[in-house]
Amino acid sequence: MYRIFRPLLFQLDPEQAHRLTLQLVRLVGMLPPLQRVVRRIYRIDEKPVQVFGLRFRNPVGLAAGYDKDGVGWRGLASLGFGHIEIGTVTPQAQPGNERPRLFRLAEHDALINRMGFPGKGAEFVRRQLSGARVEGLVIGVNIGKNVATPLQAAVGDYLELVRAFAPLADYLAVNVSSPNTIGLRRLQARAALSELLGALDQQRRAIVPPREAVVPLLVKLSPDLDDAELDDAIDVLLDKGMDGVIVANTTISREGVAAGSRYAEESGGLSGAPLAEPSTQLVHQVVRRSAERLPVIAVGGVMSADDARAKLDAGARLVQLYTGLVYRGPGLVKQIVDGL
Ligand code: FNR
Repeated sequence: MYRIFRPLLFQLDPEQAHRLTLQLVRLVGMLPPLQRVVRRIYRIDEKPVQVFGLRFRNPVGLAAGYDKDGVGWRGLASLGFGHIEIGTVTPQAQPGNERPRLFRLAEHDALINRMGFPGKGAEFVRRQLSGARVEGLVIGVNIGKNVATPLQAAVGDYLELVRAFAPLADYLAVNVSSPNTIGLRRLQARAALSELLGALDQQRRAIVPPREAVVPLLVKLSPDLDDAELDDAIDVLLDKGMDGVIVANTTISREGVAAGSRYAEESGGLSGAPLAEPSTQLVHQVVRRSAERLPVIAVGGVMSADDARAKLDAGARLVQLYTGLVYRGPGLVKQIVDGL
């Protein structure tokens, strides 16, 4: 089916195509009879994973950025995802960067984006998460600072988001690795990361009720850290009692992209197939350097069961995908889980 649908979608501007598909899955989530049909098509046998104190029905999740405002997660759940990471959510609504800001490098199964966290803000997303849950689905919320918030005041934004979402999310992912908000990645440096995660850890412990346990905190890292920076980050994550790490965000590198390739010169983060190998290597490193004390969610270029298997073999407990959905379509989740 997607073989027919994809060329039509690819006629549209990438962001328009994304909006259209998100509206379609949203519709699925709003109409129970349609949802039942879709669920039947993509029905998957469970392959449960227990990690971060949570039970995932299978190891494949939707990466952050696809459903930034949490409008489509009910429909997306019908595609078989074990977990869905909503966001990045910022405290206040903001428009993001100027368009165009999303580019298809179709010959590479890749995307470049410089979205810059467009979104409707925390209050809107909170409303999307209230109400009944989809049974068995784990919901993560990925949090980040507003572009207008100076870096020195970033902790305040993240604290506000922990307070807003700890009662609603199954886990929180601290995004300090998007290349599209100026200075954000500097929060991965030892001193800044230590201050940030220390504060967030305290905050989550202060708001245990109505949860029975503190909300798991994960940190999403950039694939562009050098060895020393990675060691620093891992030290801090362990020291501050983080529950896990998400490896990795998009890269500013253009390795794996042919020089003359259309859009290769666009600024922003590269995702998809060229990120597969670097991200898997980073998983290896994180597992080794943390002596397996930090459970890893691996993300980057997962387009097949083999890609997912490579990441699990490298020591990841779960995988996520985004760009694979664009190039392989909605059947990819089932294809991967069945193929594992
Ligand atoms: C992203 N990604 C992302 N990550 C994040 O933590 N917060 C975000 O808001 C976004 N936004 C976003 C938008 C777009 C258009 C893309 C393509 C990606 C990164 C994403 O979650 C993931 O880490 C990378 O895309 C690598 O995985 P894939 O796409 O190769 O499977």
